[in-house]
Amino acid sequence: MDDATLERAAELLRGGRLVAFPTETVYGLGADATNDRAVAGIFAAKRRPSFNPLIVHLADTGQVAALAEWNNRARRAAARFWPGPLTMVLRARADTPISKLATAGLDTIALRVPAHPLARDLLRRTGRPVAAPSANRSESLSPTRAEHVREGLGDAVACVIDGGACPVGVESTVLDLSDERPALLRPGGVARAALEALLGPLAGLAGHASPSAPRAPGQLLRHYAPRTPVRLNATHVEADEVLLGFGPDLPSGGRRQVNLSVSGDLTEAAANLFDALHRLDQVGARCIAVMSVPGTGLGEAINDRLLRSAHSPSTK
Ligand code: TXA
Ligand code: MG
Repeated sequence: MDDATLERAAELLRGGRLVAFPTETVYGLGADATNDRAVAGIFAAKRRPSFNPLIVHLADTGQVAALAEWNNRARRAAARFWPGPLTMVLRARADTPISKLATAGLDTIALRVPAHPLARDLLRRTGRPVAAPSANRSESLSPTRAEHVREGLGDAVACVIDGGACPVGVESTVLDLSDERPALLRPGGVARAALEALLGPLAGLAGHASPSAPRAPGQLLRHYAPRTPVRLNATHVEADEVLLGFGPDLPSGGRRQVNLSVSGDLTEAAANLFDALHRLDQVGARCIAVMSVPGTGLGEAINDRLLRSAHSPSTK
């Protein structure tokens, strides 16, 4: 990636335009987080319900203090996991310059310092906090390649920075540290066990029990959904189905098969998840049959995404 492209993208961001860029998790649809109009552009491009707050991306940890209130747990988690696939929800400073639209009017703010070199370079050049949800239409599959962004958002984005495939492949873990009880709001690229080793037990997934739980406003039950219906825990595959497999032994048949990881490796499976779903969705089969994936490590995030992708629109 040449300097001129990144410099131009940073200028576009400072000018209030939308720029899609790679992170280690998924591609983000970025806008200047201090600019209301720019942030409104994200909601319009994604057709995203405006009550759903956005993650604010920073070039480095030093930028946090101007936006949010640190606490001890947050400092420890930042020292251990930033830059990386962890988002922390903290109390917003009363004088935070972040657009109210980005935080959906909450008194908390979600912050992340991504590790992807292109994301860091872009953030550094932009010199401002950048609000960035995944660069896809609301509810649909997250993009892990630049092609996914172009297919899903087309002309709505001023520029797409192509960094190839995202290495982690599932979104960041969202950890709420804004009050006394740390809570895991969304499983993601940092496994629960790694966080619990540092912070002790985490309260459960508010969003699972009730999609409208106030602590996880964005965790709608239908999300990450391909157009093709999804059938979970498949042990066989019908002739008019396609198979999303995992591990060394796949049932034979179906119109097409993609294996998330032949060796049963959950990190590899997470990296392949959304690209595999994008590809199987394009076959036009009656259904995507998905084999079960263990729930340990990154398997918690994989199963969270699969469960939501299978949730039918009529019951959302
Ligand atoms: O990996 C990622 O996190 C990607 C890349 C681009 O960084 N971004 C991403 O953003 O997944 P998005 O907007 O698709 O997901 C943001 C999640 C939502 O579940 C939202 O509800 C939650 O973070 N969130 C944001 N602000 C919050 C807040 N103040 N309190 C609780 N949850 C919040
Ligand atoms: Mg998303």
